[in-house]
Amino acid sequence: MAFKIIVLPGDGIGPEVCAQALKLLPIISKKENVEFILDEGLIGATAIDQTGNPLPDETIEKCISADAILLGAVGHPRFDLDPTAKVRPEQGLLKIRKVLGLFANLRPVKTFPVLDPISPLKDHLLKGVDFLVFRELTGGIYFGEKGRNEDGTEAWDHCNYSVMEIERIAKMAFESARQRRKKLTLVDKANVLETSRLWRETVQKMAPDYPDVELDFMFVDNAAMQIILQPSFFDVILTENMFGDIITDEASVITGSIGMLPSASVGSGTALFEPIHGSAPQIAGKDIANPLATILSLAMMMDHFGLAESAESIRTIVTDALESGMVTADINRENPKRTTEVGDWVCDQLQAL
Ligand code: IPM
Ligand code: MG
Repeated sequence: MAFKIIVLPGDGIGPEVCAQALKLLPIISKKENVEFILDEGLIGATAIDQTGNPLPDETIEKCISADAILLGAVGHPRFDLDPTAKVRPEQGLLKIRKVLGLFANLRPVKTFPVLDPISPLKDHLLKGVDFLVFRELTGGIYFGEKGRNEDGTEAWDHCNYSVMEIERIAKMAFESARQRRKKLTLVDKANVLETSRLWRETVQKMAPDYPDVELDFMFVDNAAMQIILQPSFFDVILTENMFGDIITDEASVITGSIGMLPSASVGSGTALFEPIHGSAPQIAGKDIANPLATILSLAMMMDHFGLAESAESIRTIVTDALESGMVTADINRENPKRTTEVGDWVCDQLQAL
């Protein structure tokens, strides 16, 4: 069997963290007796510099014809400082999600006990933290109509959702809860927003089909508090695009380092796997970035391919790396290992299994 993977290294630390994950593929290929066919594409600021377009057509075509996409990161500070820029790296990421119909972004948040000392939360709050956020990814305020009035003194971003958009991701979230601790929390702002009321109504209507799943509802402002006050309360969280963006960055700090969180974006087209940290331009090219979130994203890709054993091995090795001090400076400032050292170590362990 052969799997075609398109790598979109992107900006900042993207290329170096992707390189570490890719080193695992020849080893998995041998162990699982599968073939990986690799190709690369441009996205983000790098693509703007080379082609003027954050997502060239060539990249889109390559992605459509692939079995999976590994993405590093997208973004560059020179655009963040210029709100008038018409072309922005992030447009590449938003467009690839939309074009491929990747409506569900899965972000697992799980603590590693060995990292408890570097978590900003107290130890007793960290026990049993293991939840999965289903963030809607191709609708809402991100993709609604945007505009300005004639003299530019007013601006708007519309937030739209249809029942169809809610149902398709809610179905995934219910089914996932069924495989886990059977608890689903819809995070919304139904006390204020009409779109949120449509989310509640739709999810409530679906609930009788999943009698084994306990469904509850939480306003997003309260959810932002509960993620810190009692993170172990959550099992599966379902939420719309922007709330999901915000609460998953918040949730990522629970583990102690944003450099540990992987993600998968799935839907109708080629699935995309990426670490949730950004391009971290201030540390790019220094061989100090944490490659583990990208390596864990590769594990999610292996699960997607049905190569569950390799996925599980990678996850075990990542835990071993943390326990063996094989970690970058975000986790151990005193005795940091380099990005490439961590990558090589993970490869050696996998090889030795
Ligand atoms: C994310 C990022 C993106 C988003 C940006 C880079 C457009 O923050 O994947 O969470 O807001 O979706
Ligand atoms: Mg984000």
